[in-house]
Amino acid sequence: MCGIVAYTGKRNIIDTLIDGLRRLEYRGYDSAGIAVLDKNKITTVKSVGKVQSLVDKITPAMKKELSKGKIGIAHTRWATHGIPSEPNAHPHLDEKCRFAVVHNGIIENYALIKEHLIGKGHKFLSETDTEVLPHLIDDCYEGDLLQAVAAALKKINGTFGIAVISSEHPEQIVTARKGSPIVIGVGENETIIASDISAIISYTDKVIFLNDNDIALIDKDKIDLRNIDNVPVSREIAHIDWDPGSAEKGGFEHFMLKEIFEQPDAIANAIRGRLDESLGTGTLSGLNLSAHDLVSVNRIIIAACGTSLHAGMVGEYFFEDLADIPTEVEQAAEFRYRNPIINPGTFILAISQSGETADTLAAVREAIQKGATVAGICNVVGSTIPRETGRGVYLHAGPEIGVASTKAFTCQVAVLLMMALKFGRSRRLSRQTGIELVAEIKRIPDLVRKVIATAKDIEKVAKKYAQAKDFFFIGRGYLYPVAIEGALKLKEISYVHAEGYHAAELKHGPIALLDENVPVLAMANNIPGKDKIIGNMQECKARKSPVIAVATEGDEEIRKHADDIIWVPECSQYTVPIPSVVALQLLSYYIAKERGCSIDQPRNLAKSVTVE
Ligand code: G6P
Repeated sequence: MCGIVAYTGKRNIIDTLIDGLRRLEYRGYDSAGIAVLDKNKITTVKSVGKVQSLVDKITPAMKKELSKGKIGIAHTRWATHGIPSEPNAHPHLDEKCRFAVVHNGIIENYALIKEHLIGKGHKFLSETDTEVLPHLIDDCYEGDLLQAVAAALKKINGTFGIAVISSEHPEQIVTARKGSPIVIGVGENETIIASDISAIISYTDKVIFLNDNDIALIDKDKIDLRNIDNVPVSREIAHIDWDPGSAEKGGFEHFMLKEIFEQPDAIANAIRGRLDESLGTGTLSGLNLSAHDLVSVNRIIIAACGTSLHAGMVGEYFFEDLADIPTEVEQAAEFRYRNPIINPGTFILAISQSGETADTLAAVREAIQKGATVAGICNVVGSTIPRETGRGVYLHAGPEIGVASTKAFTCQVAVLLMMALKFGRSRRLSRQTGIELVAEIKRIPDLVRKVIATAKDIEKVAKKYAQAKDFFFIGRGYLYPVAIEGALKLKEISYVHAEGYHAAELKHGPIALLDENVPVLAMANNIPGKDKIIGNMQECKARKSPVIAVATEGDEEIRKHADDIIWVPECSQYTVPIPSVVALQLLSYYIAKERGCSIDQPRNLAKSVTVE
């Protein structure tokens, strides 16, 4: 989704802005642009397509000229209002070219504002909602940039993360947020602003996260922070401990492959220091729940989107099996618009890799508003969901750049298992069972390592099925959400139509679609329900579908029921989702590679969906 970068300092402005945009490419976008301010003149360059097209447009002579500027803003746009085109790409300017704006989010009342401004003689060049902002700022301007931006923002409904420069103020940048993240990187005699810390970590580890309705004036290297009503506010400087190198490919062909291979370490980080071997429980102090709070929880609602939703579905089994707590999993988008029933004792868990997904954030706000205890399971430190919930668990998985989520999913599942163990141990789960589970959880990184070691075999299976047009993934119990996640991975990155189904539901409709051209991948690991899934595999074979089984190493019997097998080490039903999903991630990856797809930035997708 859209990305923002803004910079003031001594570095080459073009190189810095372009570097920032490249680091945001993973978010998904369809056009890009920059605006540079030099001696009271703003110059913009925009292009449709990748950041490289923008770079190609900047000739050496142009670059030399533009590099005289010391201040600039830049943007990658993911189209919402108007097609991807140069006029629709950001930055947008007013017609006197005094104010240039980059904006993430949606201005809901833009049509009315535009009509009003056209009535006052303003001329518009794009179909975007954003373009009203520079015109509105121009309309509100009385000599003070911060005040003009604040006045303009007060007139709009919707969400925004913005950065603004003005030819009237050659040393200033104004930035503000409501519902769309903005982070200010505080360097030595330089300031870099971005919508995401990935664009900042190679410059500084000191950052300020803006809260909703914060507005900041950066004037040389002074930062004046206020709220939109002009009241000064203070925000802590946070330290980010992400290693800048961790956001690079490190020799892998794609971020996705790197992130799949990183999972043993990522999961080890997610569980480190969070298990108590002698008490047989999870610690997870960030949840901030006393023993009394833990037993008071009588219902859990998990709200999430996409892959995080599937992790939540695995969590539902954990909480019910290990802690006896009735658990529901909700698409965050539905949760926010239904009238969810929240009683004392209802515990809401928001799962989000980015911590910024608009629907999940809105669900969190709705739950807080209704008085619920809300915790987050997030990866991006300092992102909005953990800040607003004030309690939860960070994944410590490191930056996830590939749009299709991999390591975040396995770490989410590991965290959910530790959390269910903690809740379970506060109730009827015995110390002995807890100790056994702790030992199993500690084995997870090794289980994943073993699956990764078979990547070449999985690649062979992928090559065999890479030309299929449709795919079904079926599973039961703990492997049902894994089947759905496997299908999502495949459709996201390879554009193959894939459906994840409960194995028993297949015969209630989708079986009509099966024939020799539609492979079925069956999760047939050695856990309760395996006998039943073998029956379901037979049903598929009887319709001539090729069957690929994910099965437990050493299960020779399975060969009778499957055309191809992907092996996963023996483990319990509690840990089996993790190594099994890794096998499916690799299968999707190699199918997408065989089909020549853009794996890290699939068409139409965004890493972090910050609009509804
Ligand atoms: C987007 C991404 C998915 C992700 C989902 C939820 O759709 O493409 O990979 O699972 O958002 O994101 P979150 O950051 O909330 O986990």
